[in-house]
Amino acid sequence: MSNKIKLTEGFMCFEMNQIGVIRTPYTKNTPNQPVEEDEGDFRIVVEPQYTDGLYKLASFRYMYVIYYIHQVKQEQSMIVSPPWAGGAKVGVFASRSPVRPNHIGISIVRIKSIINNEILTSGLDAFDGTPVLDIKPYIKDLDVKSDANNGWIEEMDGHEHLS
Ligand SMILES: C[S@@+](CC[C@H](N)C(=O)[O-])C[C@H]1O[C@@H](n2cnc3c(N)ncnc32)[C@H](O)[C@@H]1O
Repeated sequence: MSNKIKLTEGFMCFEMNQIGVIRTPYTKNTPNQPVEEDEGDFRIVVEPQYTDGLYKLASFRYMYVIYYIHQVKQEQSMIVSPPWAGGAKVGVFASRSPVRPNHIGISIVRIKSIINNEILTSGLDAFDGTPVLDIKPYIKDLDVKSDANNGWIEEMDGHEHLS
């Protein structure tokens, strides 16, 4: 099986290496975003040739998982309406919709343990078998923005979808 992904949308074409695969209990429905307390087996299985790249990753509590949302079938649109947003319409780049020009997903998850080429994580919002493009540490002093807000979501009634 080839581990190359060819991205052909847009005016440039990129070829990327799949560095691993996401393993989750989900084949259809997942939460809209990662749920830290989600029960089940969540892990990233890294291709063996990248195992050395995990050195010191376990010193962090959280990491970004960047992946290719490979089973998107819906038509692309610049305006989207997230399923939890009560019909609100926003631009795709103001959303976390999986249906976007490049089907890139990003999730922040807790690193539970790393054993050889497998990273056990907290809950992930991706289907089992989703290809992983990259992993990066979530670094407190770089990544936490103390004045961050919730954008247009703050105009909605209730914030259940953020919990
Ligand atoms: C709203 S997206 C958010 C993804 C990521 N956390 C982000 O913000 O970029 C999560 C949804 O994408 C869908 N999804 C997850 N993995 C997928 C895959 N491999 N192919 C197609 N859809 C997928 C599921 O319906 C899931 O609820």
